Amino acid sequence: MKSPKPNSPNNLFELEESATERNVLFDKIQNFSDEFLDSLTTQKAFHHETHAATERDSFFEIDKDKESLEDILGFFKERVVDTGLNPASGGHLGYIPGGGIYSSALGDYLAAVTNRYAGVFYASPGAVRMEDALINWTGKLMGYSDGFGGNLTSGGSIANLMALHTAKHHKNISISNVSKSVVYCTSQSHHSIIKALKIIGLETCIIREIPLDANFRISVSGLETQIKHDEQHDLTPFLIVANAGSTDVGAIDPLKKLSTISKKHNIWFHVDAAYGGFFMLTDLGKKRLKGIELADSVILDPHKGLFMPYGLGVLLVKNIEHLAAAHSYSANYMRDAEMENQYSPADLSPELSKHFRGLRMWLPLKLYGESVFSNYLNEKLQLTGYLYKELKSIGYKVICEPDLSVIAFRL
Ligand SMILES: Cc1ncc(COP(=O)(O)O)c(C=O)c1O
Repeated sequence: MKSPKPNSPNNLFELEESATERNVLFDKIQNFSDEFLDSLTTQKAFHHETHAATERDSFFEIDKDKESLEDILGFFKERVVDTGLNPASGGHLGYIPGGGIYSSALGDYLAAVTNRYAGVFYASPGAVRMEDALINWTGKLMGYSDGFGGNLTSGGSIANLMALHTAKHHKNISISNVSKSVVYCTSQSHHSIIKALKIIGLETCIIREIPLDANFRISVSGLETQIKHDEQHDLTPFLIVANAGSTDVGAIDPLKKLSTISKKHNIWFHVDAAYGGFFMLTDLGKKRLKGIELADSVILDPHKGLFMPYGLGVLLVKNIEHLAAAHSYSANYMRDAEMENQYSPADLSPELSKHFRGLRMWLPLKLYGESVFSNYLNEKLQLTGYLYKELKSIGYKVICEPDLSVIAFRL
């Protein structure tokens, strides 16, 4: 039971607010949120000339002084909210980042208030079951069947990193063979792929940028020719990285054909679907993304395709044992937490303590159901189709036919 607040000279009880104090704080935060959300349509999409430091920025510094919540929120609006990019503004022609839906923010709030330890099943079976359900839903949506696994990450870059680490581990790439190991990607691959290779010690492997076709998709014949050439020269092709919605133009590589090639040559097949993956909730997306179910690993970003606030990626690996083998570890102090027949997120990722990030995805999906997300994504596809026709009719050059909702054009 909580003891009454004594008049402690050290303010020892100040961090444990009473219900009344909590309500006062919460009302102010809620008013601030309402004002922000209710004015989104008229807010600037980008705040120019807000990047230079100002004298006001000394307020960022932490010292012994206390500030009122009013002053803190006033400063937060002035020097954080009203600076830089505003992806949820009505004027933002955002082609990839989502605006951040409110119900997801509420999920984050509950996750932080309840502070469940989502890294280990033993510590929070409920949080882990929730995360497992989300991975299961996303995997089934991609067309995976039993035996797959995954992890909720902070975003696409970390999900790519973990996927590539899993590929490296499964294919036994080490210092002894790295210089003869070959990765195949294109100039459309997201830079987080190359960054990931650098972080996992594969900087010195051979990276082949395969030519693109007229629609910015990997040239299948170019890839096959290169693989054959590499094999003949005693090199080891080990990884193909495909796009399922490239960042520049939204291009989707021919996934089915890439899977066939990867199987034939015993290569790990990774699909970066950070932006495009959740279009599997639409009929057009399902048609365009055929073959994604054949990938050894796939990554998606709910903070893109499901409109959630920044900070959420999904990694899927077709065979969960490959993911576990690349990430699990043991320690004396973790013995109590080990459970048979149940992986914990900590067994499948570099994280031990982690944000209970399942709730920010689970709450909106439970509250509104998946169909609302497919409706929203369908609307984006319709808008793109409309824009494509209009741009062409008024004489713009559309760089390539849009596969999904990204459309690149110039005058
Ligand atoms: C295709 C693609 N892959 C990966 C990423 C990296 O994702 P994140 O920014 O969530 O780390 C992005 C980000 O824009 C992307 O568009």
